[in-house]
Parts: sequence; structure tokens; C-alpha cells
Amino acid sequence: MKKIRKAVFPVAGLGTRFLPATKTVPKEMLTVVDKPVIQYVVDEAREAGIEHLIFVTGRNKAVIEDYFDAQVELYTTLAERGKKEELAHLKDLQPQPGTTSFTRQQQPLGLGHAVWCARELVGNEPFALLLPDMVMQAEKGCLSEMVRLYEATGGNIVAVQECDPEEAHKYGIVGKGKAVAHGFEITQMVEKPAKGTAPSNLYINGRYILQPEIFDILSRQEKGAGNEIQLTDGMCSLAQDQNFYGYRFEGATFDCGSKTGFIEANVAFALSRSDMREKVLAPLTALLNTTKK
Ligand code: G1P
Repeated sequence: MKKIRKAVFPVAGLGTRFLPATKTVPKEMLTVVDKPVIQYVVDEAREAGIEHLIFVTGRNKAVIEDYFDAQVELYTTLAERGKKEELAHLKDLQPQPGTTSFTRQQQPLGLGHAVWCARELVGNEPFALLLPDMVMQAEKGCLSEMVRLYEATGGNIVAVQECDPEEAHKYGIVGKGKAVAHGFEITQMVEKPAKGTAPSNLYINGRYILQPEIFDILSRQEKGAGNEIQLTDGMCSLAQDQNFYGYRFEGATFDCGSKTGFIEANVAFALSRSDMREKVLAPLTALLNTTKK
């Protein structure tokens, strides 16, 4: 069984829900406490043993590439000022030379198309896919638990969580079959099911392990929901030949592509940090107790 070495991050989205900020700052670079959203997702991938990071970017996203580069002048200045801790932290986050790749999705044709744009960089091996809007908080990272399941089952893995059945039409939804290791067999997948038709309330939360045969399928994939080339539709075709398993993630997921999810993530991560918790608890509690709008 081939090890999961590469992860794809589709970061071409316009981020219209965060205008005017996203006129100049990509939504993936907005900060949750003091780190950009994308850093949380990359941290999750590295924790899972990912060695190579592949970013599918778009116009106005060049700052993401700069962010993952070494900032030699900054490092020198920090060293001169004796800021050892800050410097060590930055160097720790810094990917090794040659372990990042960037390609562009030239047209916004959908998630399936964005993933297909990474085909040359992924090559003929299974890979992880992480949607950067979805930031996760858990003791055991979602992707590392999926890799553990993959080592037991092989095939393709999709992480899911429960959603309010009223919200099911916003997501990819799976049907649940029998238990396998710490996951289950997927019997069905449907992208944005019409209200009242979802096979369950288990939604695809933005973490995938996929076999490279998905690329050939995506190259021929017709447009689906929202008139976009949908990854879920491609996965349904792949599921005719290959196994798909679900991993039910137990931690918290914040949709940082939405304002409420983004605010929630900031509060949750601040409260989870020993250097922040006490400082934010009192003012947050006071804010929550005030009746003023
Ligand atoms: C995408 C996927 C969907 C998944 C969702 C998670 O949808 O197509 O299956 O449930 O991400 O955020 P999008 O949010 O791009 O509409």
C-alpha cells in the first residue's frame, strides 16, 4: 500500500463573503487568533505525516506562496533583536525547500476542476485533499485518523460529521453502511441533495484521501450542482470501481468561509490556548452578559 505523502489544498476561491477584506487579502490568509487560516490546515496535514504540500491557487493569491517561503530579512532582524522564541516558531512552521508546489486554477469551474488541476503534481499515487475553509480542532487530527483508517482499509476515505438535516442541501452527503475498523462503508454520495432527499445527515466535512484514478474521471466530469464540476460526482463514478469508507470526525469543525464560523474559530482557539484563555475569558464573558446590541 502506498503511503499518503502529498496533500492538495484548493485555495483559488474568491472569498466574496469576506469582502471588502478579500479585495486584497486571500480568505485563507485571514487570521484565527494569530495564524492564517491556511496554517491550521497545513498543520493538520503535517501532523498526519504529509511531506509535500500542493496549493491550487488563483489570481491575487501570490501572498500564500510568499507566506510559505523563508523571510530571510525578517529572520535576521528577529535574530539581531534576540527574539529567539519567535524565530524558532517561524522556522518550525517553515516547510523544507522543495516540499511545496503551486499551480493555478485558471477558471473557477468548481472543486472537481480545482482538484484535477493538481494531477501532474500529484502523479500516480494516493493523496490527501483538505479544503482550507474547514478548520478543525481536536485532540487527534482529522486527517491523521483518516490515514490510520486508510492503513487498515486502503481505498478512498472521506471524513464526515453530523449536520442539522435542514442544512443537508448545502453539503455533500453520504449514506452509511457497515462498520469497518474505526470507520464505515459508504453506500452512497450525493452533492447538495434537494431538500428532503438526503440519504442521511452525515456531511462531507472537507477532508479526503483519494486514489489517483480520480483525475481521469474528473477530466471527463460534466458540470453538476451549481453548474460546477463537482468532486462528489467524480467520487461517485470512482466508487463504481473502488471502495469508499467514511471516518466520522468527533472534533469541532469551523467553516471559516462563513463569518459566523470564522468568529467562532477565533473564540474557540483563543479559549483553547494557555497563553490566551485567561486574557480573553473575562472580556468575552462581559460582552456576552451585556444586553446592548
Ligand atoms: C464542498 C464539497 C461538499 C462538502 C463541502 C464542505 O462544497 O463539494 O461536498 O460537503 O465542500 O465544506 P462547497 O462548500 O464548495 O459548496
